Amino acid sequence: MIGWLRRLFSGRAPAIVLAASRDAGGIATLHGASFRRGWGEAEVEGLIAERNVLTHVARAGRSTAGFIMSRSAADEAEILSVAVGRSWRGRGLARELLTAHLRRLAGLGTRTVFLEVDENNEPAIRLYARAGFREVSRRANYYPIENGKTAAALILRRDLG
Ligand SMILES: CC(C)(COP(=O)(O)OP(=O)(O)OC[C@H]1O[C@@H](n2cnc3c(N)ncnc32)[C@H](O)[C@@H]1OP(=O)(O)O)[C@@H](O)C(=O)NCCC(=O)NCCS
Repeated sequence: MIGWLRRLFSGRAPAIVLAASRDAGGIATLHGASFRRGWGEAEVEGLIAERNVLTHVARAGRSTAGFIMSRSAADEAEILSVAVGRSWRGRGLARELLTAHLRRLAGLGTRTVFLEVDENNEPAIRLYARAGFREVSRRANYYPIENGKTAAALILRRDLG
């Protein structure tokens, strides 16, 4: 209901732009709501400011609808995190964020992009598969889940250009 009202009043589709330090609070909140291990606002602000970290944010009015962040070393980049707010999911926003991000990375000279994803994270696996990522390895028992069980991490790779 609240998400629906927010969308109604924010009017337009979220704008995907490079993040600035003022986005740190919104990104930290969204990260905390999306993952087991939260990021503090200061931690996010530090990441945004790093020279080799690239962050795109989807701004919906004054709220943060989604973000994507990667860290580069030479001509490789690793996606550190991607999340979309619950009320914005399932509308192609993550796909838009990923497309904008990969385009920018390619423009900066990145040739290969890696990331790690939980084998049970179906929306994320579909997102990456559609964007051309392929599994290159698997780390068994990587993520803790309920009742002492674990899930594997899939390492995915996409070559750019
Ligand atoms: C993963 C996440 C970023 C996807 O965001 P989104 O904006 O809903 O994704 P999109 O609408 O762009 O859809 C991407 C793909 O996921 C699929 N998808 C979306 N929601 C889904 C769901 N609940 N179940 C299964 N597939 C789903 C879409 O159909 C689409 O695949 P398709 O192109 O083959 O149809 C979002 O679910 C999220 O923030 N999850 C929590 C954080 C997270 O897990 N991040 C990834 C860590 S590696």
